[in-house]
Amino acid sequence: MSQDLEKLFEEYRQGDTQFQMAGGVEGCHKLANDFYDIMESLPEARKILFMHPNDLSESRDKLALFLVGYMNGPPLFEEKYGAIALGAAHAHLPISGKEKGMWLTCMEKALEKQDWPDTFKAFMLMRLNTPASRIQNRP
Ligand code: HEM
Repeated sequence: MSQDLEKLFEEYRQGDTQFQMAGGVEGCHKLANDFYDIMESLPEARKILFMHPNDLSESRDKLALFLVGYMNGPPLFEEKYGAIALGAAHAHLPISGKEKGMWLTCMEKALEKQDWPDTFKAFMLMRLNTPASRIQNRP
């Protein structure tokens, strides 16, 4: 990574910079809604879409509020839904590298739709690789 990029990423890690750059609570809802809209419309994401409940309203809200906290905003997920246990929440789902890839593809396309600097989108996609890898529970 270039030194300039590393310096920029270091700035993104300060305080609630990510949350502010994402447009706060509203911005996180927009990202989560775009993410699930894309999952619903992308044939290659069918398999992970069908793992979800038919009504995606709660999934949309949970992902949005999770992202608020993940970007160092207020702990809205915990306030509404209780403690986050991402591993346990996905343990009943067979998630291999393929399903992880589908999830990240939807997220990459959702990030493309945000009115954010490209470097910040790349940073968020890189960060989200970590929980996605942790959630993967099949080789
Ligand atoms: C790696 C591929 C992933 C797949 C296939 C996947 C799929 C799913 C599915 C099917 C649900 C609904 C579970 C249910 O209602 O029974 C769910 C819930 C959720 N997912 Fe994922 N997910 C993945 C990765 C991620 C990542 C990386 C994040 C966060 C960055 C995330 C955040 C959430 C949250 C917050 C919920 C709600 C959990 C709860 O009910 O408490 N997921 N996911």
